[in-house]
Amino acid sequence: MPEIHHLRAAGTSVVLDARGDATPVVVHWGRDLGDLTAPQLAALADAQVPAVTASSVDVPLRARLVPLPADGWSGRPGLTGWRPGGGPGDASDEARAAAHPGLRHAGTTSDGAALRTVLADDAAGLRVVVTLALGASGVLESRTAVTNTGTSSYALTSVASTLPLPARAGEILDLSGHWSGERRPQRLPVRDGVWSRETRHGRPGHDAPFATVVGTPGFGFRAGETWVVHHAWSGDSAVRVEHLPSGHTVVGAGEIWGPRDVHLAPGEAYESPRTLAAWSGDGLDGASERFHAWVRARPGRAPKPRPLTLNTWEAVYFDHDLVRLRDLADAAARVGVERFVLDDGWFRGRRDDRRGLGDWTVDAGVWPDGLHPLVDHVRGLGMDFGLWVEPEMVNADSDLARAHPDWVLRGAPGRDPVGWRHQQVLDLARPDAYAHVRDALVALLEEYPVEYLKWDQNRDVLDAASRPQVLATRRLMDELQARFPGVEIESCSSGGGRVDLDVLDRTARVWASDTNDALEREQVQRWTGLLVPPELVGTHVGDARSHTTGRTQSLGLRLVTATFGHSGIESDLTRVGEQELAAITRWAALVRGLRPLVATGRTVRADRPDESCWVHGLVAPDGSEAAFAVVSRTSTPDAVPPPARLPGLDPARTYRVERVDLAGEPVIVGDVPPPWWDERVVTLPGGLLGEVGLPLPGLAPEQAVLLRLRVVA
Ligand code: GLA
Repeated sequence: MPEIHHLRAAGTSVVLDARGDATPVVVHWGRDLGDLTAPQLAALADAQVPAVTASSVDVPLRARLVPLPADGWSGRPGLTGWRPGGGPGDASDEARAAAHPGLRHAGTTSDGAALRTVLADDAAGLRVVVTLALGASGVLESRTAVTNTGTSSYALTSVASTLPLPARAGEILDLSGHWSGERRPQRLPVRDGVWSRETRHGRPGHDAPFATVVGTPGFGFRAGETWVVHHAWSGDSAVRVEHLPSGHTVVGAGEIWGPRDVHLAPGEAYESPRTLAAWSGDGLDGASERFHAWVRARPGRAPKPRPLTLNTWEAVYFDHDLVRLRDLADAAARVGVERFVLDDGWFRGRRDDRRGLGDWTVDAGVWPDGLHPLVDHVRGLGMDFGLWVEPEMVNADSDLARAHPDWVLRGAPGRDPVGWRHQQVLDLARPDAYAHVRDALVALLEEYPVEYLKWDQNRDVLDAASRPQVLATRRLMDELQARFPGVEIESCSSGGGRVDLDVLDRTARVWASDTNDALEREQVQRWTGLLVPPELVGTHVGDARSHTTGRTQSLGLRLVTATFGHSGIESDLTRVGEQELAAITRWAALVRGLRPLVATGRTVRADRPDESCWVHGLVAPDGSEAAFAVVSRTSTPDAVPPPARLPGLDPARTYRVERVDLAGEPVIVGDVPPPWWDERVVTLPGGLLGEVGLPLPGLAPEQAVLLRLRVVA
């Protein structure tokens, strides 16, 4: 068995030095190093052994797979815990050793794509298995399993998957945000200390770091080296970048728990969620390419073609009325909608957001014949039917809460958690509560031909352990999917509060935000697209006046923005004028035509000198076609904006570029646009389009242009 392991895929190499009985070290995670011989690998591993510095441990200090103080590591440990059995005063050897573990390497095996390292501390009664798997797309999956091999209960207090980064990775980018403003990027330099992004919402939250990028300073979408890490977990997490004055930089990711949450009985094991990581030598786009390929290649999860969707929320809110909704369905079918989703407001007592959650039967007052008349109508028009649910929650004003007040998740007996949208969490870790909700959902899915569940989760899990809730929710989704394999689930959480690559194992798309303001949406989509491919991100055309920002936007901008994802409509089409309806109908046809490109295309984003105008697009895997959006966000600093460089095309082929106006001419400032603008078509080599770009007119703020490209030679 080799002692230095080399994984290679998609232009990436990972080299693990597993010589000796100390915990192994990742000595390289980055650019593909080629086919190295054993002596070359040994030379590489030797070259990575650092000097012993002054006033430090007497051995070379390494950022090991599970860094621990026992190996001289003074940064955050990769594993902490203790044996509470005998209390803090327990002076048994096992208890003392467990609080200060020192892991020894018991062997590393490889199947060529995945490494499995076994570590043990027999005195502490701990066995740790770290797996590192480099998938064909270049995404590195890391997991840590901890088994209590001791004689008493072991309380785990933290486990983090830890990866070392080179010194040149000097700049951090991650995301933050809030309701209706998810995934806002922030950048900062790597400094001594810990940059830790912690989410304690019991869901990733609107402010989730989502992707933690560390890169060579100044990295962009198309340039620079980047190391991108995502903690694939729908609960409390911490992702940190840590730099020690000794010169070590690591990135670590793990769950956050309370002190009582993860207690392992003798023989019991904990398995961490996956930490997913990708290196790119071509900026953020290169990392996105790897993540998108990983998501698209998951076994059994190839998405069906994405039906154009109409969601009723912003059209009617809680005002459910059969005649009105039938009219809306008629209007939807006329423009080419393929899936009609009935949002919140259909179930017992749900006349507003203060009551009803938990009572998952159809409200007999509003729907005397059940949902059948609407469902039949929708399906008669040739559309799928989808339904909104929020299974993890309960309103105090509900029959369920009245019958089972003890099913409300509470941190302390008798203490009601602070309300949030007037609702509480239903304790799904209780078998009775779980079975009740499951049976209610099963009854609905058996009675109605529902093809899609918009699965919402509208509050944080704040003052009780969230891990059992996360696990129960996964189980519930799994059970329903096994029973109704045709039903697609959307992960919604007051917009984009639960967007992660774990929930996407069980869901067919995410609702990235409650804002349909196109400019806000451009931002949310741009950064959600760092990890999630566009066909899995809902992108809806909202009303001209956005319900979240009050801003009024042109139909052209709204349509272009809603093209680059799983397209839909979130607007009362019965109140939209004929001209707009005609434009939406044309757009629906375009969306159908672009569907294969959206489902398979490579996401590309141009680096531009300023943020006033964004250029992004999708390029077919074989380079034969592409679609780009040019989005003018604000007025340009220069009267004549820099040309739109269209990255990612095949440089050796020639493309016909067509400007497609979805809803009238974009407003431009100035008299004479560049010649191709009025001609609407230009034919140029891909290399030139990428390097030099297309000259742009002075686009007025909040305008968007769609470009369709096809190879002609
Ligand atoms: C959340 C969702 C919205 C909508 C409402 C309904 O806020 O994000 O899309 O479904 O709930 O109450």
